[in-house]
Amino acid sequence: MNTTEVELKPKVKAFLEGEKGLYINGDYVLASSKKTFNVYNPATEEEIAKVSEAQAEDIDTAVAAAKKAFEEGEWTKMEAAERSHLIYKFADLLDENREELAQLEALDNGKPYEVALEDDVDGTVQHFRYYAGWATKITGQTVNVSPDYFNYIVHEPVGVVGQVIPWNFPLAMAGWKLGSALAVGCTVVIKPASETPLSLLYAAKLFKEAGFPDGVVNVVPGSGSVAGEAIMTHEDVAKVAFTGSTAVGKKVMKKAADQIKGITLELGGKSPAIILEDANIEEAIQGAFDGTMYNHGQNCSACTRVFVHRKHYDHVVEVLAERANATKLGPGMDPETEMGPLVSAKQQKTVLDYIEKGKAEGARLVAGGKKVFDKGYFVQPTIFADVEDDMTIAREEIFGPVMSVFVFDTVEEVIKRANDSEYGLAASVWTENIRKGHYIAGKLQAGTVWVNDFGLELETMPFGGYKQSGIGREMGGEYGLANYTEVKSVLVKI
Ligand code: TAP
Repeated sequence: MNTTEVELKPKVKAFLEGEKGLYINGDYVLASSKKTFNVYNPATEEEIAKVSEAQAEDIDTAVAAAKKAFEEGEWTKMEAAERSHLIYKFADLLDENREELAQLEALDNGKPYEVALEDDVDGTVQHFRYYAGWATKITGQTVNVSPDYFNYIVHEPVGVVGQVIPWNFPLAMAGWKLGSALAVGCTVVIKPASETPLSLLYAAKLFKEAGFPDGVVNVVPGSGSVAGEAIMTHEDVAKVAFTGSTAVGKKVMKKAADQIKGITLELGGKSPAIILEDANIEEAIQGAFDGTMYNHGQNCSACTRVFVHRKHYDHVVEVLAERANATKLGPGMDPETEMGPLVSAKQQKTVLDYIEKGKAEGARLVAGGKKVFDKGYFVQPTIFADVEDDMTIAREEIFGPVMSVFVFDTVEEVIKRANDSEYGLAASVWTENIRKGHYIAGKLQAGTVWVNDFGLELETMPFGGYKQSGIGREMGGEYGLANYTEVKSVLVKI
């Protein structure tokens, strides 16, 4: 397949032509250095776009625009209801462009078009609508301290926020960060991943169309080590939010310490799925399979450690292998495709290296294990059985379609083994005994626990991790808002 064979929407074709500028202060502008980088279709390895590459001076310009918009512009003067209206309007415009955005996501990231449409784009529309509603519900408190004093507490927007996002859910991750920051009244400088800048760049102009004042949202593609670091360390950026690898998360945290900058980190995971003796086995198998293979395993909450009670172990391994072997790989734009390519040659190599380590350390490969096709970064859905807790594939985040299956005998044993990880992002438990489900959910060290399900993220659910999976909670409900407000206590003597 190549991109010219795909029936691209006219607006997508037009968008892909010419150099894509940075979106700063309400306009697309070329990087001051005139540097560019290429974006590739991971299914064909063909170049699909050329994008301006932000340098530190462009970040200065973007932060200055965001600062001006926060300190002097209409944004902070407007009523909350108007802010809410603008976010709603932006969501409506995303909705009107849902097919274009899904095509860009499928081309750029590689995920199947239908998944991009229904999960990534529609999910992001829903997310902005949810946070549009919050804009009018930012409240404080009054405290009855004494008849002589009036004490009230307000939540104020922190100011300019810097956000850096990864390539696995390019538009959705932007939405997770932007929705709450805009609802409380912050202004934003956001950097998409270099592999996948297109959907957010396309969406950027919709902020202007919706009526957002210039400078409120600035989108600055560029490398992590230059543009990313410049955002994270800029002295006019009050708060930073990062999603990506734990290794870079640690760097961001160390740099933030120099300015005591507020941070939210959403990092890696090695999530367990526990299939108990009394589980509905067929549902559990499907849940664990989808939970690992969704987004080709490029998902921080992927349940890549599947613990199966000994009674069901052989059957579960057999069915998982059948499912893996039956999965149809192909380009995201092909309607038959169930699993697309990994995002890049680098990611494909990382995943294949982990598969080799799994084999070398003695895990039993029961499905997949290879790359496929001459072109594109495809890796077969891969299942390892008889995995032991100390093997590399059991401990490190692979971020690809690779599942490790373990056998266990008792509930207390599996809780201990599930918690034996430096990560603590998510977990799932499969049981028909709901009391046992609640008990185990209470014992697991994970920011999200699903019982008899895996992966459903609702706007009401805070998302984030224990241990090295991160700091803070984003997305869901009020928790997402707290990242972007300062708390001020005012005491008035009467
Ligand atoms: P990262 O390097 O962590 O990239 C994530 C984002 O951070 C990208 O926008 C990246 O920019 C930027 N970045 C890189 N270095 C930075 C720095 N020093 N300061 C500020 N921003 C910086 O991840 P990756 O290399 O794409 O993937 C490597 C591994 O990370 C994966 O195999 C996976 O295990 C993990 N990962 C986790 C997640 C989630 S959701 N937790 C998402 C993606 C990857 P560039 O695009 O220019 O590199």
